[in-house]
Amino acid sequence: MSAVLSRRVIVKPLHPLFVAEVTGVDLTVPLAREDFLAIWQAFNENEILVFRQQAFTDETQIAFSRNFGALETMEAHAANNYKPGHIAIMTNLDAKGDLLPLDDPGMVHRLRNEAWHTDSSFKPVAALASLLSARVVPPPGVGGNTDFASGRAAYAAFPAARKAALDVMTVIHRVAEPKNVDDPAYSAEQKKRLTVTHPLVRVNPVNGRKNFYVGSHAQEIIGMPNDEAQKLLDEITAFCTRPEFCYSHQWLDGDAVMWDNRCALHRATTFDKTKYRRKMHRTTVAGLAPDTLFATAPTTAV
Ligand code: OGA
Ligand code: MN
Repeated sequence: MSAVLSRRVIVKPLHPLFVAEVTGVDLTVPLAREDFLAIWQAFNENEILVFRQQAFTDETQIAFSRNFGALETMEAHAANNYKPGHIAIMTNLDAKGDLLPLDDPGMVHRLRNEAWHTDSSFKPVAALASLLSARVVPPPGVGGNTDFASGRAAYAAFPAARKAALDVMTVIHRVAEPKNVDDPAYSAEQKKRLTVTHPLVRVNPVNGRKNFYVGSHAQEIIGMPNDEAQKLLDEITAFCTRPEFCYSHQWLDGDAVMWDNRCALHRATTFDKTKYRRKMHRTTVAGLAPDTLFATAPTTAV
């Protein structure tokens, strides 16, 4: 794919290893194909794309996200009042815009976002991308950032002699985190259905670059004793989240951030939820399995 695809889209790195800011296009209106292709290329190269000054509504956010493929419908759980849809709301506000108490079930559920994870890794076909758009942001400097880590930069920097063994490992991911196995947020049926396997190392089908695929749902390694697997998963997660492989996004009004769930980890960071208001709307683009089927750009763009 040639580097110059669009006369409008401007891609500027925000970190030495991954993350780019994309400007020059209004994502709330239908995109020209060349603009989408430039964004698609930037997405595959940079893992995280930061868009500024985008006045998304749910409808326009859904329409832009659909350029990348079919959208996931969220599983029903405590954080969406058991009402699944294409928009997942990450917030400390109730429907009227008032602060929720810290012990509200949705608030407790969303604390899981503060562990490093990748969205929907507990589904048989894990998510391709998530797009989070800021609707209410806390004031600068009080926290509520979203942190990102590059599983790709980490893989590239990992000791080479160990890679051949890791490349062929298979990991069990579960929707319920081990410490929450009795958590009522998910039904027994969901816990069973949402226990799946994925390779420990994934390959981007567009550029062939490999990455570690771990996070809070990764819990066991096939054929390895549990304590050993836990140690290895912890080691790899700690390696991926070394400061040099991380970018922390401080949200500004109008920001929207899209991340590649196939290769980047992310986590919410805390803030004083009894004092500041924060509301983010997320759309999630479903993946296609296996990765090799996704080597060309999706064709749904106008
Ligand atoms: C998510 C998520 C982090 C945040 O929406 O998937 O993990 O900072 N959000 O809200
Ligand atoms: Mn998430």
